[in-house]
Amino acid sequence: MEKPKHHIFVCASFRADGEAKGMCSKKGAAGFLPYIENEILDRGLDAQVTSTGCMKMCDNGPVLVIHPNNTWYGGVETEEIIDEILDALEGGGVAEAYCI
Ligand code: FES
Repeated sequence: MEKPKHHIFVCASFRADGEAKGMCSKKGAAGFLPYIENEILDRGLDAQVTSTGCMKMCDNGPVLVIHPNNTWYGGVETEEIIDEILDALEGGGVAEAYCI
């Protein structure tokens, strides 16, 4: 497998003991993973999505980060917001309204 051009990290609130607790988990962030995976396929994006532990930006949760751009998004609570973020990624830009 080739390394993807973009890596999308979705906070799933895992702490060091493996327990998921935090704003992102409470707001259902992990549930967005299948949606993002399907969107990556539908759009033909050269990207991979991965869930992560707490990214220490809980007050802004749910948090999503895109690398190598180092673009941090907060308040990612709906599929519509994810669509806006992926639209921006496709266009080579940033969805400024959700940047943190
Ligand atoms: S729980 Fe997501 S940033 Fe802390």
